[in-house]
Amino acid sequence: MKHNFNAGPSILPKEVFEEASRAILDFKGTGLSILEIGHRTPLFEDVLNEAVALVKELMHLDAQKEVVFLQGGASTQFFQIPMNFLTKEKKAAYLDCGVWGTKAIKEAKQFGQVEVVASSKDKNYSYIPKVYAIPEDAAYFHYTTNNTIEGTQMHAIPQVSVPLVADMSSDILSCEMDFNRFSFIYAGAQKNIGAAGVNLVVIDKSFAETGNLSLPSMMDYRQHITNGSMLNTPPVFAIYVCLLTLRWLKKQGGIAAIEKYNKQKSDLLYSTLEQLPLFHLPVPKEDRSHMNAVFTMHDPILESLFSAKCKEEGMVGVKGHRSVGGFRVSMYNALSLDSVVAFTQLATEFSNQHAS
Ligand SMILES: Cc1ncc(COP(=O)(O)O)c(C=O)c1O
Repeated sequence: MKHNFNAGPSILPKEVFEEASRAILDFKGTGLSILEIGHRTPLFEDVLNEAVALVKELMHLDAQKEVVFLQGGASTQFFQIPMNFLTKEKKAAYLDCGVWGTKAIKEAKQFGQVEVVASSKDKNYSYIPKVYAIPEDAAYFHYTTNNTIEGTQMHAIPQVSVPLVADMSSDILSCEMDFNRFSFIYAGAQKNIGAAGVNLVVIDKSFAETGNLSLPSMMDYRQHITNGSMLNTPPVFAIYVCLLTLRWLKKQGGIAAIEKYNKQKSDLLYSTLEQLPLFHLPVPKEDRSHMNAVFTMHDPILESLFSAKCKEEGMVGVKGHRSVGGFRVSMYNALSLDSVVAFTQLATEFSNQHAS
């Protein structure tokens, strides 16, 4: 048995894998695979419409919000957003809280001025800055809600008077938020939404209207909205996997229910590690992520021994990102509490054996 703690692409519900496999062989009894149906057919239109409706329902989006599925990964959004909403005369405000936010800043600088309002680089991005001022004339304020690599998460939405733009790639649909406060939300699907190859984008209609004109069609959000995610051939299978995962989430009781479950998992993990003398949690309690827990061990020899033990016990994907080192345990929506229990038992046994 494997316990999949991968950071992304990552675990999805077993029933999603089963249903997706069936659809590859025969989609809805049509005698055709989901991989060979046309996107401009009622068969796929139903998939897309239901996926969009479920996102709106689960996130409680108001009528001002449009939902589109786009390609190019979250990394494409790093430049597509400033390409639409910045000009050389404008400036955008960014919070620099980790590797992904830094990449977003680098891309934005190609299109206009960027003001980094605060950064946690001084401590290797191990915390979330709390005090900063956002210029009132900023075109937008961009931040990453959950820092996948560094294991930090912003637990409150910043109070701002400019359009709020968020990269929610690693915590979307995992906890309740007033999503309507955002002018723009984006997330790569490959963690909590579905398979790699598609982005979920939620965009406020009036914000979309403020976008630069004369962009290449594929870069222009207005055109994606007008064409209902079908400006070109959409990633049919990836969107279908999103639909299955969204249906699963609704069956679990929606975001409120999964948030409770996610909290159970992360509380168990953090409270266990806090008590074990071999482990070190670099992130202060108030900034810890419920999705990605990072920790190190004081002794590098024990670190490789523990790593080998994890491998032996079927714990997959627990190696920390190279910029942080140590370990990272990702606990996305589909990960079961049983997997976290198994991991904490292993860490406790290991600690009892090796702590002097
Ligand atoms: C928070 C965050 N933003 C952006 C990305 C980049 O996503 P993609 O690989 O889809 O471009 C990742 C990838 O893990 C991420 O975790």
